[in-house]
Amino acid sequence: MISQNMNRSMVDSRQNPYSFYEEIRSINPVYKGNFLKYPGWYVTGYQEAVAILKDNRFQTRIPFPETTKKYKALMEIQQHMMLFKNPPDHARLRMLVSRHFTPAIIETFRPNIEKIAHNLLDEIKNNNKIDVISDFAFPFASLVIAKIIGIPDDDKNMFREWALSLIQSIDLTRSRRSIIDGNKTTVKMLAFFKDLILIRRQSPKNDLISELIQQEKDKKLTEEELLATSVLLVIAGHETTVNLISNSLYCILSNRKEHQKLIENPTLIKSAIEECLRYESPTQMIARIASEDVELNKVHIKRGEQVYVLIGAANRDPKQFSNPDVFDITRNPNPHLAFGSGIHFCLGSALARLEAQIAIQVLLQNEINIHPETIKWRKLVGFRAMEEMRGTWGQVICPNS
Ligand code: HEM
Repeated sequence: MISQNMNRSMVDSRQNPYSFYEEIRSINPVYKGNFLKYPGWYVTGYQEAVAILKDNRFQTRIPFPETTKKYKALMEIQQHMMLFKNPPDHARLRMLVSRHFTPAIIETFRPNIEKIAHNLLDEIKNNNKIDVISDFAFPFASLVIAKIIGIPDDDKNMFREWALSLIQSIDLTRSRRSIIDGNKTTVKMLAFFKDLILIRRQSPKNDLISELIQQEKDKKLTEEELLATSVLLVIAGHETTVNLISNSLYCILSNRKEHQKLIENPTLIKSAIEECLRYESPTQMIARIASEDVELNKVHIKRGEQVYVLIGAANRDPKQFSNPDVFDITRNPNPHLAFGSGIHFCLGSALARLEAQIAIQVLLQNEINIHPETIKWRKLVGFRAMEEMRGTWGQVICPNS
């Protein structure tokens, strides 16, 4: 058994979690540990991660075992989100929105997304110094998801506060304070969406929220589910995409050879983003709970036990990926698990991919330059996210290559 000190190290290892993952994988790819507030099974092996994510005996659940009125709004809204639903309710909620997120539909947004990226670039190109996250990635992802859902552009500035607060409140490093903050944010978001729904009920538009309102009228979903789906799409479609953009830029600019390959052959952008998704996965952990006793990899997981699927670790499993710690933008095949697997496979994966491809191309064409040595990762265990990413324009410096 790994020492109790490991409890602290899982959070402390955020600057580089990969050696920690490797250490527990070498003991067992399905390892019982007590690293977080809630003990459970830590899954670091690729095959084992896929097996669990595809097995409906491992159920999703809202991330709050505590029951207190202080988090009422947050808990109630999560109870109606597809992300925390199991069969059969899950399929009904997912089906109502899934046709809006197919690769073909998302491709129709390409001209709009490119325009958003270029307009933002025009606004910041003359600044000597920028923070790539707050000056570009955040407003970019906000404007795109706002456009798809049907949220007026002016309101997108609230997304940052909402996203930061809600992510902090669901990450397993959360404090009581951050859960209370998350609850306050939920109350604000609910008020915002109730107002918007009222407006769209009176004058529908050709957007996702108007369609969801129609489905609610047709009794295909309840008002709570309508609100929960709106909140979920804003949060899920935002923070992780911001992190994919900044993590991708970091991966590419700190690997001179791979950066050069991409400059010489821009058609590599698709496989480059897949490699960024694998190498620094924006979501690092998916939590499940065993609904019955399960035998897996010679371990016995008991009903009610927590299972933490570390997808950032599975994506570096040497049994699945050759030279997993090497960043290779031509890696093929690249069956990473950055978007999960099974029935909860990320609904927005096509959108996230397109946004990242466009954002990185536009930033590289404009010769963005970052200082990888100054990067600090946020102390989250479920997500891979940077505090900030200072950038300048001009020739690229690659100290790590
Ligand atoms: C880089 C960006 C993204 C990453 C890494 C990511 C990752 C994930 C992962 C790992 C899951 C599975 C969670 C689980 O099994 O418990 C998931 C689910 C989901 N994602 Fe994403 N996501 C991204 C972007 C987006 C975008 C842009 C949207 C929507 C606009 C979105 C909407 C969703 C939804 C609705 C679910 C729940 C699906 C379900 O429960 O059936 N995501 N995402």
